[in-house]
Amino acid sequence: MKKILITGGKKLQGTLKVSGAKNSALPLMAATLLTEGCNTFSQVPQLGDIKTISKLLRKFGTHVSGNDVLTIDASTINSFEAPYSLVKTMRASILVLGPLLARFGRARVSLPGGCAIGSRPVDQHLKALKSMGATISLEGGYISAACTQLKGARIYFDISTVTGTENIMMAAAIATGTTVLENAAKEPEVEELAIVLNKMGARIEGAGTDVITIEGVETLHAVEHTIMPDRIEAGTYMIAAGITEGDITLSHCNPQHLHALIEKLEEIGIDIIINDGSIRVMGTPFLKNTDVKTLPYPGFPTDMQAQIMALLCLAEGTSIISESIFEDRFMHVGELKRMGANIRLEGNSAIVTGVDTLSAAPVMATDLRASASLVLAALVARGETEITRVYHLERGYEAVEDKLSQLGAAIQTVNE
Ligand code: EPZ
Repeated sequence: MKKILITGGKKLQGTLKVSGAKNSALPLMAATLLTEGCNTFSQVPQLGDIKTISKLLRKFGTHVSGNDVLTIDASTINSFEAPYSLVKTMRASILVLGPLLARFGRARVSLPGGCAIGSRPVDQHLKALKSMGATISLEGGYISAACTQLKGARIYFDISTVTGTENIMMAAAIATGTTVLENAAKEPEVEELAIVLNKMGARIEGAGTDVITIEGVETLHAVEHTIMPDRIEAGTYMIAAGITEGDITLSHCNPQHLHALIEKLEEIGIDIIINDGSIRVMGTPFLKNTDVKTLPYPGFPTDMQAQIMALLCLAEGTSIISESIFEDRFMHVGELKRMGANIRLEGNSAIVTGVDTLSAAPVMATDLRASASLVLAALVARGETEITRVYHLERGYEAVEDKLSQLGAAIQTVNE
């Protein structure tokens, strides 16, 4: 097992190239199951989750090769089962259900089970597939799904679900007839998936709004695509600049995807200069409190909640952070308090009262974004912080030690 050691107090400075988006790469890789031929994706981030879905695709018989340029050929599939051993390490594995069912009429996918941030059911995915004609049964912790041919349907999502929208968009792409998704997720990753599915030959309109119309086609073909920048990685490093009073320019990022975060960081007193495709962030010693409520896109992203909490731990005054997407996404609070943070939980809100300094401590990562918040806190804490269970971090952040070292952080990864 590896752990990260960070000595706080360095002001991070320099330029950083943002990696490709994890939450875009995952559905795009699942979408190759709909195609025959060789798909090529560039700017694929080298992450734990990408390795996991590559393993899953290979298990089905797909040919997957390469690293930051990935080629995926799903012409011959000879297995339709996503085993618990893989699904339990990555919930996004549910994204293979729609494509397998649509193209092959069968799929057996382990239920993801709960995770550190909440129960995270998949009822909306299953409700939608049933309305398209699939028979779904749950036994032994697995979803068994079958259909002769999926049919278009009008589907209303009871809750805005990112992978639910993506799963059904993929299934509907080669269903018979037209599917309308209402209360669809509007995240940029949903929009990029629709762009790529249309490049494959699909007929999808409305992605990026809450009503998406998909006119089913017979077949889809392989494509080449460069994955868009990771807005959550970008946001995390923006906060690294803010929390260390640094000056970081992020290249290869899309400021359009970060409006809610930029607004909040400016309220806190951080200077941000936006140019085409790049963002410059300059920290300040005087951080002001603010309130944050996580919402579906374009609201403040839940995937940035833990990170902005680390920043607000050092802001003047009291901030209220309300988590409206997941029921238990405060696992980082206990660890931040071990570093001297003053945080009180009340239901789904965290009351954060600023302190002058944080101090180093041995802390444990519990989930992907919680681990990012501990890294941010460690960058500014007095002394050397030790973070264990860093496999959580490596699921979603590419080359963290290299990127932070290049910006001047005192960071090293060691074996426990
Ligand atoms: C996606 O997860 C992201 N993952 C998550 O990022 C992100 O936090 C989340 O969307 C919200 O933005 C990927 O895209 C791979 P949801 P997803 O379905 O699709 C409830 C990260 O850190 N719900 O939008 O699983 C659910 O419990 C990860 O990169 C149902 O009730 O999230 C949650 O409360 C973490 N029934 C809410 O909806 C369903 O069938 C939103 O979940 C589906 C979801």
